[in-house]
Amino acid sequence: MSLPTSTVKTDPQWWRHAVVYQIYPRSFADSNGDGVGDITGIRNRLPHLAALGVDAIWINPWYPSPMKDAGYDVSDYRDIEPVFGTMADAEALIAEAHAVGIRVVLDIVPNHTSDQHRWFKDALAAGPGSPERDRFIFREGRGADGAEPPNDWLSEFGGPAWTRVTEADGTPGQWYLRLFAPEQPDVNWNHPDIHDEFTQTLRFWFDRGVDGFRIDVAHGLVKDGGLADIDGLPFPLPDDTPDGVEHPHWDQPGVHDIFRSWRTVADEYDGPRVFCGEIWVGRDHRLTAYLRPDELHTAFNFNFLMAPWLATPLRETISSTLAAHVAVGAPATWVLGNHDVCRPVSRYARPQELLKPGFPNLQPYLALPADILLGRRRARAAALLSLALPGGAYIYQGEELGLAEVEDMPEAARQDPIFAGTGGANVGRDGCRVPLPWTPTGDSYGFGPDGGAATWLPQPAEFAALAASVQDGDPASVLELYRAALKIRAGHPALGDGGLQWVDAGDDVLAFRRDPGFACWVNLGSQRVALPEGATVLLSSQDLTDHVLPPDTAAWLAV
Ligand code: GLC
Repeated sequence: MSLPTSTVKTDPQWWRHAVVYQIYPRSFADSNGDGVGDITGIRNRLPHLAALGVDAIWINPWYPSPMKDAGYDVSDYRDIEPVFGTMADAEALIAEAHAVGIRVVLDIVPNHTSDQHRWFKDALAAGPGSPERDRFIFREGRGADGAEPPNDWLSEFGGPAWTRVTEADGTPGQWYLRLFAPEQPDVNWNHPDIHDEFTQTLRFWFDRGVDGFRIDVAHGLVKDGGLADIDGLPFPLPDDTPDGVEHPHWDQPGVHDIFRSWRTVADEYDGPRVFCGEIWVGRDHRLTAYLRPDELHTAFNFNFLMAPWLATPLRETISSTLAAHVAVGAPATWVLGNHDVCRPVSRYARPQELLKPGFPNLQPYLALPADILLGRRRARAAALLSLALPGGAYIYQGEELGLAEVEDMPEAARQDPIFAGTGGANVGRDGCRVPLPWTPTGDSYGFGPDGGAATWLPQPAEFAALAASVQDGDPASVLELYRAALKIRAGHPALGDGGLQWVDAGDDVLAFRRDPGFACWVNLGSQRVALPEGATVLLSSQDLTDHVLPPDTAAWLAV
């Protein structure tokens, strides 16, 4: 097979400083008018990404899927979902992205398959005790007639983490573990077939020129052998958890061996192939354990994403993140949003002192009043902060347009299994997944061709004013702020990988220097703050007068 010709610069360390743009393919751009985004849509919009100046794209799962969890229920890891296009489209996208200097990272889902994967169908057909069932986690139920789930584990999407099957003879049968939707059975990583399947899948895509993988639920693959009850143990485990206390299905120590073996596969390739783990574990040292030199290259920094817009917790999060990453020699990543969490504009729009710790999807924010203009102002400052910090950064599609969460979506339009799984008690994640606006007019604001099917999630009227074409060329727009920041970042020797030195500018100001000659100041207080004399402003998130930083504003300085 001939590899795509690539003009991606040969930088063996690219992942240490990359700005990666997350594409949620259902909602990026729809080329054929079926209301769902597709690969040709991404190809058509590569000029937007090149002009933005990102180093790589990460594409959420594009494999064949019944779409019970928007593609995270994969029925074939080595093909393309027809809604998104064909393998030829995928190969063309990889080549065209490389030709404009953009690397391509896919999303691999190793914790669970779809219930329509051939293996799960085989397991159901083969019956209890069969080798086919051993690829998943089937158990007898507890209680009279096995009518109760095998243990007390709960699904992330609501209710018990177990589903009971009906056996071939029509009787109620075994239960299978599924930490997410019922259509997402967890696989058994103690089974050699699972290792082989995923190793072959990594090679399949690496051979097609793919530059890396984001690893879904990377901390979930290994389950405690005895399937012990959780018995109220919280997760993430608190900071003072004694050594040796482990959660039975998150962050089990055995998971590290899997990633050591994956690293050897990635390292077989010329031109670095890299991993980024989706790892929700709370404690920094448990996160960076995945980033030891023979494991994953990077992981999402969710502690930064979850930090409120308050100087003290943000400063502490940044410091502890950097200390933990330096200890293993890995670069940090700076993440403000993704397809699972409430958009940063809408998170920062809330009174930050009132936020409670917890998973930051929309539901907990709904109870708090929102000032979206304030949220957008803070998100602009947060963008400059995150792009100035040492390491790599992620931009979730639409952040560069300043999109807010769509909070008032009609119930009938909601698609996220969290909404149904919790009986509507949690509205779920649809509000951050709404198709992007590219133009101020048109049936779908340029997401798809006019006259096509309705977008798979409805777009709000306020998207018109935020469309990419409206912001293009407007120096006050969020889009031009991102473009300017990425341009400076790409050319500035102090930015990207490295370290920082904090500057004391008062409790409410995050100020740090990066050598040579760069400083970032962010004002999180309510008072105006004088910038240091002699510093030149390279870029600021709001217009500045008198060398003074207003509240909720960030500035990049030459010092
Ligand atoms: C990850 C994905 C999320 C998905 C879940 C189950 O958290 O980011 O979208 O629902 O895994 O695959």
